[in-house]
Amino acid sequence: MMSPKRAVADASRFGAVDRVFDPAALIALLDGAKPMFRAAKSVLLDRLALEQASAALDVGCGTGADVVEMARRMPHGAKATGVDASEAMIAEASRRAAGSGAGVLFRLGDALDLPYPDDAFDVCRMETVLQHLADPLLALREMARVTRPGGRVGVLEMDLGTVLLDHPDRAVTQTVLSANADSMAQPWMGRQLPRLFREAGLTGLSVDPIVILSGPENFRAMIGPAVARLREEHVLTAEQARDWWSGLSEREDGDGFAAGATVFVVAGTRPTA
Ligand SMILES: C[S@@+](CC[C@H](N)C(=O)[O-])C[C@H]1O[C@@H](n2cnc3c(N)ncnc32)[C@H](O)[C@@H]1O
Repeated sequence: MMSPKRAVADASRFGAVDRVFDPAALIALLDGAKPMFRAAKSVLLDRLALEQASAALDVGCGTGADVVEMARRMPHGAKATGVDASEAMIAEASRRAAGSGAGVLFRLGDALDLPYPDDAFDVCRMETVLQHLADPLLALREMARVTRPGGRVGVLEMDLGTVLLDHPDRAVTQTVLSANADSMAQPWMGRQLPRLFREAGLTGLSVDPIVILSGPENFRAMIGPAVARLREEHVLTAEQARDWWSGLSEREDGDGFAAGATVFVVAGTRPTA
């Protein structure tokens, strides 16, 4: 069974963190999911040429760990900045980075209207933010605008149409996975990234699809709100929901739990002319 704190942490609410009852629950959800993304994050950082950058930006930086990591890869004296629309996230990022010794800065701001002049950064990065936005192309155009000609733009995104789960009841599982995908503003963001990069004028793209696997606790935290919604909307009966959770537990108890998704890491260059 899910703990009450986990149950209120609905990942579809990351588009308006400060309007949820308890932003700390969303922060806990992010912290729990971090290890799953480790390999994909590393691929993204490798694509960004941070070793030569003097100014880098992480858009929708959340609690700021990736900003600190960017700063570590940049030359001495360089500056990494995180911008996020949530005051709770910026406060948490500033608290966590204090005393890290890294050259980092955090600022409140909207991905759709970045508070920076044109060409301000050598590198601009983003992770699992576009899936929450009504206009992801505008956000990518903003990232391209604040990146200098010749600079690098890179994004890591989930594709919720690719979520996989081994479960004894395939029919109910399909219903649950569809409801989970439909709760997000952009459920197919991963597969759409290369097209949007081109539409934003970025060139020389690299595209890395990467399968990430989830442990049972994170998977339950991610999927729980979708099951609860299906119950509220009477798509699933109480018995079907209970049986579905039991089926999931069976897989866990038998050491046969398998769940995951494909994430896409796409990077490109802002053309010089
Ligand atoms: C799923 S979290 C990802 C956080 C971080 N990038 C990470 O991977 O740990 C999404 C983040 O995007 C932020 N966000 C959502 N809409 C935004 C917007 N319009 N402008 C800037 N940040 C936004 C949220 O506040 C949240 O911190």
